[in-house]
Amino acid sequence: MPTELQPAWWKEMAVYQIWPRSFCDGNNDGVGDLWGVLQKLDYIKSLGVDAIWFSPLYPTPNADYGYDIADYRGIAADYGTLELFRKVLAEAHARGMKVFMDLVINHTSDEHEWFQKSKESAQSPYHDYYFWRKGKGNGGNRPPNNWKSVFEGGAWEYDAGLQEYYLHVFAKKQPDLNMGNPRVRQEVKEIMRFWLEMGVDGFREDVITYIAKREGLPGGFPLPVGTGLEHYTSLPAVKEYLREFKQDVLDPYGAFTVGEAPMMTPKLAKEYITEGDGQLLNLMFHFQHMEADCILTDWIPLPFRLKKLKKAFTRWQTELKGSAWNALYLENHDHPRIISRYGSEKYRVQSGKMLAAAYLLQSGTPFIYQGQEIGMTNQQLDSLEQFKDVVTFNNARLFAKFGVKGERFLRLANRRSRENARSPMQWSDAPHAGFSQSEPWFRVNPNFTQVNVEAAEADACSLLHWYRALLALRRSNPLVLYGDYTEHDKSSRHLYVYSRRSANKKLLVICSFSEQPQRFNAPLGFDLLHGELLFSNYAPPEVQSNQFITKPFECRVYRFG
Ligand code: GLC
Repeated sequence: MPTELQPAWWKEMAVYQIWPRSFCDGNNDGVGDLWGVLQKLDYIKSLGVDAIWFSPLYPTPNADYGYDIADYRGIAADYGTLELFRKVLAEAHARGMKVFMDLVINHTSDEHEWFQKSKESAQSPYHDYYFWRKGKGNGGNRPPNNWKSVFEGGAWEYDAGLQEYYLHVFAKKQPDLNMGNPRVRQEVKEIMRFWLEMGVDGFREDVITYIAKREGLPGGFPLPVGTGLEHYTSLPAVKEYLREFKQDVLDPYGAFTVGEAPMMTPKLAKEYITEGDGQLLNLMFHFQHMEADCILTDWIPLPFRLKKLKKAFTRWQTELKGSAWNALYLENHDHPRIISRYGSEKYRVQSGKMLAAAYLLQSGTPFIYQGQEIGMTNQQLDSLEQFKDVVTFNNARLFAKFGVKGERFLRLANRRSRENARSPMQWSDAPHAGFSQSEPWFRVNPNFTQVNVEAAEADACSLLHWYRALLALRRSNPLVLYGDYTEHDKSSRHLYVYSRRSANKKLLVICSFSEQPQRFNAPLGFDLLHGELLFSNYAPPEVQSNQFITKPFECRVYRFG
């Protein structure tokens, strides 16, 4: 091992993320479910992954498709039953795969029993589970402070019955929990125990760095969206709460955790994930590499800049080195499809392969989002009525203020909305892409006739087989798992070149992010004539050379020693 970090199962695993509503519909009501998951466990295992992360499966009114939980101890009727979940868990375990649940504790649904009880009266024992405050001004008809929600206008909603406002950093139907209340933390620990006792192996912790709010809820620096962020992002108390969860519940079960953290930097992340006694989470999802074609949010697009992407990749690779471990991902349920962003729909398979090699062979634990492995892309919806997500609707209102509406907004939403990641999984070219036998809840991408699992299985050169092969290489190769990372050709605006090295073995990964021909020169110390070309997304060159001109989105992986 080149560093002082110790090997661990969670460093060697690869994780597959399921967004249940759109994965596979087993009871043919148009909505994905656990009956569908059960049918597809062998497929998931066949990818070479070691674990599944389920986006929320709990009962929910679906204001934010499951990220608004109405009951932390159940399974939504749409998805099945607790008994069915137990079966999925057992079957996943029988195949050697772990199962991680999404744990959303920054907020609940407003339909959760705690919230319902909290608004019965200010004397309710549940009142202090949330942030209820009197309004300001004469007659108290102004919100308690100027915070704006990340999703939906002001961050305060008035309750006429109680004559108080409650805080919601996300949608109105997602009131924030008061984690400073020890009773709330006790509830959270009991929820964790409930799932761990059942055999679940860990949690993905939703917006975990938001769970502490600044004492006194002071006014925030005014921003178009999310005013107040500085008063609820990564406050010191987050660490206290995480320490309590870890000591009291997670450690005794040996549970794995990955936290989601908007606006995270490597320096700050190390306060949570540095290995040793003070470690609070195993891994952290940050967003920096997801901002190479936008600014602040996916919804403010900029031209894609490879240098920005490379900088983020290398920054995390080098700054965590020797002290903490990276979480690697390019897609999840919150972002448009990566081929449509950083790759090319025209060169879908080539660019998809290149993107896979650009992140899967870095140092860290990779996550693969459903459909990514077959190269699903964004789709073009015909009208705003076809969209389903609170974030899209909020942006429609926001952009309208700046004159972006109608067709212009539709174009933006088709390009930038996270709903692009939420279209039904494309299993075959059968009606509804084999996802369901009924009309799916959300439109299937019309490219399913070409882009689907069945077609990819049958094609030896498909992206699907490429993912399998890369994951197999990573899994069986200590060099890929634990080798040192170095970036080469840093100044190139079109090529991302990195190597992994341990003892006398080396791996060189060459990725062109360009449709245009680019000149590649092998970095010093890498003689391609003596390397073994393990992966190439075009027919291997007849003559090896240390200089070559790249084909569109060309990718090669060489092994040395
Ligand atoms: C996280 C989830 C996202 C959700 C939000 C609010 O960012 O990944 O889907 O909308 O939290 O819960």
